Order: sequence, then structure tokens, then C-alpha cells
Amino acid sequence: MAKKNELMIIVFLITATSLFAQQQELKWTIIQPGIWKTTVGKNELSLLQVAGNIANTRALQQLPDVDFPMHREDIFAQRNTDHVALRFPLDSAETIFGLGLNFKTVNQRGRILNLHVDHYGGSDNGRTHAPVPFYISSKGYGVLIDAARYITIYVGTAVRKDSKHPPVLQDRNTDKSWDAQPYSDAVEVNVPGDGVDIYVFGGPSPMQVVQRYNLLNGGGCIPPKWGLGFTQRVPTLYNQDQIIAEAGEFEAHQFPLDFIGVEPGWQSMSYPCTLEWDSTRFPDPLKFNAILRQKGIRSNLWLNPYISPKGSLFKKLYSLSGSHTVWNGIVPDITLPQTQEILKAHFLTQHIDKGVSGYKIDEVDGYDNWLWPDVATFPSKLSGEQMRQIYGLKIQKLTTSWFRERNQRTYGLVRASNAGASSFPYVIYNDYYSHKDFITALINSSFIGVLWTPEVRASHTAEEWVRRMQTVCFSPMAMLNAWADGTKPWSFPEVEKAVQDVAMLRMQLIPYIYSSFAQYYFEGKPPFRAMPLVEEFGFDAQQVNGNFDATKNPYNLNTVPEIKDQYMMGDFILVAPLFAGEKSRKVFLPTGKWYDFYTGDYAGENEGITIEGNLNRIPLFVKDGGIIPMIPPQCQAPTKDDILPLEVRYYGTKENSFVLYDDDGETFDYEKGSYSQTVLSVSKNKKGNLQGNQPASAKGKPFHYLPKIKWVCMTQAKTGKQ
Ligand code: GAL
Repeated sequence: MAKKNELMIIVFLITATSLFAQQQELKWTIIQPGIWKTTVGKNELSLLQVAGNIANTRALQQLPDVDFPMHREDIFAQRNTDHVALRFPLDSAETIFGLGLNFKTVNQRGRILNLHVDHYGGSDNGRTHAPVPFYISSKGYGVLIDAARYITIYVGTAVRKDSKHPPVLQDRNTDKSWDAQPYSDAVEVNVPGDGVDIYVFGGPSPMQVVQRYNLLNGGGCIPPKWGLGFTQRVPTLYNQDQIIAEAGEFEAHQFPLDFIGVEPGWQSMSYPCTLEWDSTRFPDPLKFNAILRQKGIRSNLWLNPYISPKGSLFKKLYSLSGSHTVWNGIVPDITLPQTQEILKAHFLTQHIDKGVSGYKIDEVDGYDNWLWPDVATFPSKLSGEQMRQIYGLKIQKLTTSWFRERNQRTYGLVRASNAGASSFPYVIYNDYYSHKDFITALINSSFIGVLWTPEVRASHTAEEWVRRMQTVCFSPMAMLNAWADGTKPWSFPEVEKAVQDVAMLRMQLIPYIYSSFAQYYFEGKPPFRAMPLVEEFGFDAQQVNGNFDATKNPYNLNTVPEIKDQYMMGDFILVAPLFAGEKSRKVFLPTGKWYDFYTGDYAGENEGITIEGNLNRIPLFVKDGGIIPMIPPQCQAPTKDDILPLEVRYYGTKENSFVLYDDDGETFDYEKGSYSQTVLSVSKNKKGNLQGNQPASAKGKPFHYLPKIKWVCMTQAKTGKQ
């Protein structure tokens, strides 16, 4: 009998193994215009489902019709006992972008990434704050591997013996160009577990791939207008009077300030957190917020979700938390409805109804040394690994929905995210502090549907200070994070004026930036963009990456030049920051003419130019036909009661138009149609000169500008290079 049983087990195992190790036939279903999906096995936890956003089908229908963007028969999937193996084709001229919030590289071809939510540790190995398993090819298609697991992706590194395009055989004895990393014609993926959802996105351009990805996830967020103003985070133990005094200092220095970040000390205990006000430092939170609001300022509360035994939430959440603690705090299982109800009641009554405008959700990323381990268990039965991959995503979803209940937009900070997050009004930040790498992260954020701020904390020199301030003012959140050292924007008096100027320039540009965010929402175009997303770039990999020569291993990661220090803000402004120590820099201007933002002078086209640094200004270039709406310099973002004069600058030689978006700046009423889209256009008059046209009025719709617009022609005919 025992023998028979053994035999049966063996037969079963052999059948199961062969069933599993089989190549899967993939059935692709078109789920949205230009987006196809297939499922291999059973996906245990989908990132997109956790994010839970609804696709904007109407906007997706506006994009061009496309066919499935690769040969279906070139995609392979195999189910094994403990993982799914996937393979996608890659041709010799392709560059691959995306695959998480990388800090040092833009082109991911030739890399191996283990996509794992973590605090970025200094190398682009997949461990990062938003390890989004989505890639975009320079050929104009995208692939999303959706599973809340630690996915490993080999981006053109592994070579199969049956490869259709094997690398050139080279003899190391005699061939000097022999390379240890031979050419590979595939992207291969290892997804632990039983199954995965795969999405393929058509373009035809990389920007349209990104648009489809963002629109599948509901379109990008539109922050409240105040979220686009300046924000200062104060030292950890500041009390309510010190914070109010700090707001007064900003006023005295005439430095912009829209919201103040209150760091751990607002709580009666932190690390672990009570999420309750400290009654000595904050005796009256309601009054504290009311006083700030009278000054037009809002508060944003720091937190991590590890709950202290000293607070009232501990008992309520104990049985709803995971097996392990973080800094002695319990980890609430936020996937459970009961946990969500408890947290929601607490956040609404204790914070949001007391006037708090948003959160900074810290430490939901890593490091391993203090976070729950992969062996942790949770009452929902999600594994430690799954929880790690989704915690940041889920907490963004929940907090956003709590504000939404009050018809109130929020804009906050988070340190972990993942696929599907485009519509969440959260900006990622971290403790790493390389200025250059912060800009590369900003560039990479545009591929993967997240926002990133190159926050300013401290600097060694005045030069570094002003350079950092300049870039943060040209990012999704203009933030000085003084939690550790109490720096102020004016901490370096020799550059105080330059710092104030760039902060004011950001304020002036709010109509342009806000409209760029509206594009994120309506069309899925990220407000801050990598150069390969610029349509005119041509998407010619040669241009981006230099000349390929497959015999010389063009993918040698140390030799491939990539553009990782300049980016676009909206459709028209190219930002080319300078870093401390740089007296000049190279800027790559795509095809079409480009003009200096400040002077309107012609700067070049389809070429790399070298510019001299000017400490007082961040180098900015405007595309031919650029139309930039601006308001007068002011310390706070426009409110729903403001009616402001508008100056519209136009650049270059081309007729063009720009859609100026407006709404109340605070609520979700825009989702019900309460917004205006005013077409600002420039056309040639009878004499052939460009002139701005008076736009049709936005009657009955929110429009916070005076109807008469001041048009400013920035490019004089002599410099326009007609
Ligand atoms: C860090 C965070 C900092 C600051 C600090 C407060 O984890 O990245 O920005 O908030 O915590 O303890």
C-alpha cells in the first residue's frame, strides 16, 4: 500500500512538473485602445488592482490607432513550479527606459534589476522607492509586468543558445574588442510565484506609450494650486508657536510659502508613532491650523505607520497588524477593511478636520534592517514580500480617498510607490543627497507615472545652495526640508536674492505648471519629462545614445552616453541645471529652434551647445512656438477668490497655441466639469509678424485671470533666425 502511494505521488509530481514547465500559449485581449493584456497562471496580487484606478477610456480613444507593437510569437512565457519566466524581443537599435526610479542611469539596456521597494542605496540595481515593473522602448511600445513580487528583469543581458540574433563570436586570445557582456536580443523576466498579468502598450511614440500607461491608471493627478507653491519643513521638535513664528519670518523676507511641513515632533511619540498630537508642543491643533490658514498657509504632517504602544490606536490595531514590529511599533495591515476604517476615523477627526492639508508618509520603503522581514506574516495572508511591494501604494490610495470624502485635494510626500500610482497626489523624496542623481531621478520619474522632488536640505557652499534651490523650484514640489538643521531659504545671504528670484519665478509660472499638470490628468503627459519623451527628439536612438556598432558591444554601460541632466517642464520649457563647481555645461537642443527663456534670443537647434553659467539663473530654453502664461511674482499660489493679471510670453517664429487650464484649485469639482480650458494662440498678422490673440472668454467656468491679457513677444525678428 505504502509503495502504491509513493508511486502515485511520483506520477503526480512528474505530471505537475511537466504541466508547469510548459511554455504557455498567450491569449492577448485588447482592454483599452492600444493596450493589450494577458495573464499567465494566477496573479496572486496585482499592483494595478491595489492602486485601483479607473482607466480614462475617452482620453485613450483620442490617441492614434495602433496595432500590437511586436510579433506576438516572439513573446514567450513559461510556468515553473515556483516562478514564471518571460521573454520579450529586443532589437539592436533599441533603448529601454523606465523600470523604476533610477538615480544614475536613464537607459536600462544592459542592466539586471531586482525590482524591490527599498530606500535607494546608491546603485541602480532595482532596489528603489518606486521599482515600477514597466519599460518603454525607444521603438515606441511599452511592457508592464504586473505582480506584487520581487521581479528580476534582465534587460538585454542574457543570451540563449537558440537566439535568433546571437552575438558575434569573438576570440579573446586575438580579438581586442572581445567583451565580457555580449550582445543580447531579449528582455527576460523572472516573476516569483504562480502567475502574472502582462500588459503591452502601443505608442507609436514613447510619449504616447507613457500617456497610455498613465491614462490606464486614471490619468495623472492635479495637485491643489497651493501644492505648487513653496514648502518649508521645520526642525523635528518645533512647537506650534515656533512654526507660526517661522511663517512670520517668511513673510518678513518676502519669501514664498504655501505650506509648512511638521516633522515627527508633532506627535506625543515617534519611531514608533502615536499619530496623536503632543499636548505640550501642540496644545491646540485646531487653533494652530487656523492661525496658519489666516496667513494663507497650510500644514503637512510627517508620519510613519508603525504604531506605538503609547497611543490609542495600538490596542485597536494590535490584532489587525503583522507578525513583526518596526521600531517597536506594530505594522497595521492596511489591506483589511477594518484597519482602514479605524485609521480613517482617526485621521479624519484628529488631523484632517483640524485643518491638516496632507501628509509626508515616511519609511514605507526600507531599509531591510528595520523594516519587517520577508518572513513576516499578516492577517490578510499577504506575505512580507507582497506587503513590502504595495504598502506605499496602498497608503497613498487610502489617504487620498479620505481627503476626497471632504471634497478636498491634498498634495503630499511618500517614500514608496509602485505601478498604478499616476493619479495619486504624492511626490517621492529620500535621504540620499546627490544633486546630479536627484535630477536623473526626476527624469526617470516621468517614465513610470510617479513624481519626484530633488528636495533641498543643506549645502556646503552658497553656490551649491543656489543651484539646488534652482532645481527644486523646477520640480513637482519646491521643498526645503530643514527637519535636521533648520536651514532657511536665506541661510546663505550672498545668494539670498538669487534664491528668492527663482522661487518667485516658480510662483509666476504657476499657470503654466498647473496647465501642465492638467495635461497629465487629461492626456497622461507627465508634467516633468525626460528628453526621449519629446516628440521632436525624433526618438532616434543614435541621437540619444551616440552611434551604435554592434560588433563593438554598444551596450557597454560605461561608454553609452545618455542625457540625464536636462529635462522638459511641460511642452515648452527645457531645463538644463548647473551643479556646484560647474562654470559651463553642454545642453542638447532637439530638432526645431530653441530660444533663451530670459532673453528670447535664438539658442540653437538639433545640436549640442555649450553655455556659460550665471549663478543667478537656472538655464532655461523655450521651444519654437512656446507660449508661457505667467502671473506677477507673489508669495502664495492663487486662491479661488483671486483674479490676477496674466502676462503671456511667446517665443520664436512659429504660430502656435497653448491650453491654459483653470479651476477652483482646491476641490474635485473639476471632475464634474467645473474647469476652463482657454486656448491662448499666437498667429501671424497681415505683415507676417506674430501676435497674440485675445482668447474667447471662459464664461460661467472658473477662470481666475483678468480677461485682458498682456502679450509679450520675446523673440525679436533679428534673432529669430527665420
Ligand atoms: C527621514 C526622512 C526625513 C525626515 C526624518 C525625520 O526618514 O527621510 O526627511 O523626515 O525622517 O525623522
